[in-house]
Amino acid sequence: MDAQIDWQELHVAALRMTRLSYAPYSHYPVGAAGLVDDGRIVCGCNVENAGYGVTLCAECGLISDLVAGGGGRLVAFCCVDAKGATIMPCGRCRQLLWEHGGPELAVSTPAGVQSMDLVLPQAFGVDDLRRDR
Ligand code: THU
Repeated sequence: MDAQIDWQELHVAALRMTRLSYAPYSHYPVGAAGLVDDGRIVCGCNVENAGYGVTLCAECGLISDLVAGGGGRLVAFCCVDAKGATIMPCGRCRQLLWEHGGPELAVSTPAGVQSMDLVLPQAFGVDDLRRDR
């Protein structure tokens, strides 16, 4: 699958999103882009709030774009800062990515492409809810 992923295209899409970011408090724009299993590219940028804790990470917008655009599974993901440097998704957003991409989601990291099960080891997910107790 990795061979079919155009990482450059994803990176450009993510960087473009940083220009749309609303980050008047942190001054740290973030852009995210993901490839969906039907070939779509979904995107998001961070949207901050005067109530700091209400801030939406770029990944929140990306997941909303994914679902509102018809759903599907994420197969590749990258997020970048305003300089285009690859950054890691925060802990909460790793959980969002796990839900919609699962363990095989290919994540661009500063250390290279890694699968989601390395980015979020021993994740809690839908299988835990289904398991009989
Ligand atoms: N941020 C993201 O958008 N995604 C992440 O995974 C890490 C952090 C944003 C939230 C906030 O607007 C800014 O980066 C500084 O934390």
